[in-house]
Amino acid sequence: MDMDKWWKRSIFYEIYISSFCDSNNDGIGDLRGITSKLGYLKSLGIDGIWLTPYYKSPKVDNGYDIEDYYEINPDYGTMDDFDELLREAHKRNIKIIADLVLNHTSDKHKWFVESKASKDSQKRDWYIWKDKPNNWESFFSGSAWEYDEPTKQYYYHAFAKEQVDLNWSNSQVKKAMLDVVKFWLDKGIDGFRLDVINFLKVNDSFADNPSDENGEQQHIYDKDQAGIIQVIQELRDVVEQYDDRFLVGEVGSDNIETIKEYIGDTCLDAAFNFNLGSIEKFDVKRIFTELKLMEEKLDGQLPTLFFSSHDMPRYISRFGGETMDEERAKCVAVLMLTARGIPFIYYGDEIGMRDYVAESIACMRDIQGVLAYEKAIGNGKSYSEALIIANQRCRDKSRSPMQWDASEYAGFSTAKPWMEVHISRSVINVENQLIDGNSIFNHYKQLISIREKHKSLLYGVYEKLDMQENAIYFVRKYESEEVLVIINFGISELEFSIEKYQGFKFVYSNIRESLDLSKSTIRVMSNESIIMTKEV
Ligand code: NOJ
Repeated sequence: MDMDKWWKRSIFYEIYISSFCDSNNDGIGDLRGITSKLGYLKSLGIDGIWLTPYYKSPKVDNGYDIEDYYEINPDYGTMDDFDELLREAHKRNIKIIADLVLNHTSDKHKWFVESKASKDSQKRDWYIWKDKPNNWESFFSGSAWEYDEPTKQYYYHAFAKEQVDLNWSNSQVKKAMLDVVKFWLDKGIDGFRLDVINFLKVNDSFADNPSDENGEQQHIYDKDQAGIIQVIQELRDVVEQYDDRFLVGEVGSDNIETIKEYIGDTCLDAAFNFNLGSIEKFDVKRIFTELKLMEEKLDGQLPTLFFSSHDMPRYISRFGGETMDEERAKCVAVLMLTARGIPFIYYGDEIGMRDYVAESIACMRDIQGVLAYEKAIGNGKSYSEALIIANQRCRDKSRSPMQWDASEYAGFSTAKPWMEVHISRSVINVENQLIDGNSIFNHYKQLISIREKHKSLLYGVYEKLDMQENAIYFVRKYESEEVLVIINFGISELEFSIEKYQGFKFVYSNIRESLDLSKSTIRVMSNESIIMTKEV
């Protein structure tokens, strides 16, 4: 493995632009807001930023519906603001990767407007049109086909009806999109996070998808189809013409073997594995099994390590609700920042932000929540029942404005934010966390700096990866350095033998300052993580 590639030793930080920092006080986060917080990000110690889509968009799905790939959404600023952000980030040695949505465009995109205009349009074949729909369901809600009365055909949309799937079997589509890729690479972007990349092509047969025993549709013919990897390889060829860029793909699959097919030297550098990242409940055995599987199945390729994103509830709420033990949150951070893989921190997790829950439908912003509400009402549910159902699907939970301080709008903006600020802002905020040496923020910071100083944490393979009771522990080694990490997620103390770890020195615990290593065992407390290293 080429160890010199920057992304192999990087920690990424996902910024949901609308919610990070608002520089012009219109209530919506923007690019200049991010630039103003680069110092904060540098002090945390991250190496790369994943920016969610910043392109011109009607924002039906908050930017994942792109109207113009060459323009910045005015809510987020201008092209000059983008250039400034990239320049300032690079000055601080921070890379930026852009979220790129290749699978679909907004229905307002000029390509679709032209495609829709008539059956004979030159761009008709740029999208997927059929006289009759099949049974494919949208990943958001209802049928994936929308009827267009004027031309009497249906178009395909895997997500909202305003997010129209492109026809990647059309070579002009491919060329147009590769031009987009080149445009941003020429601007200096350091790579891409490729949205739903395994959806790029659908099966030519358009056969109906089967259902499982619960009546749930099995997405057999509308993802992971032949030809997608070939397109990614072509994209990769373009990216290879530039120095050292990074490609990470969103590959929604519960099969690690499938995920693996997308990664490799001629394909994606890495892919998100949601089987680990989005586990619903805290389950240490499940986490361990997924870590093991990634080691066994990914042929040495680096896995990604994340537990939150803009599409799922925050891990701190998912794993423990409002009463989540902060020490456990720190232990999850230890896992993410010391296990083998590329960590992706989601904005706000580093200060322990909690999930936001909409109290009324008027407060709900996410299209997925709103569609679930409409469906529930359509099915005869009452308002309060529909609100509960909608909140289950709604992704606003992890999208509330960043909590910089305790003020009314959390220091995010001086205007009323586009979505409500979490009530916890008066206690959980950056200002408080910076001055508390034991805060989650300061633990993230300390762990990042430990990771940077120890090559075994950057490059080391596992000499051992195992469990003892409810603790995950591992040894990683690189050249002359070894590191031992023990993370006790259990509710009881763990007696851990250190006989095999003679000569290891204490480096970190989230609970204590030092550790007696003179006996043959150590006692690892509940929700305690210990890091020890040795030079051989
Ligand atoms: C995945 C993105 O992360 C999500 O937010 C979006 O709704 C879908 N792709 C559709 O683009």
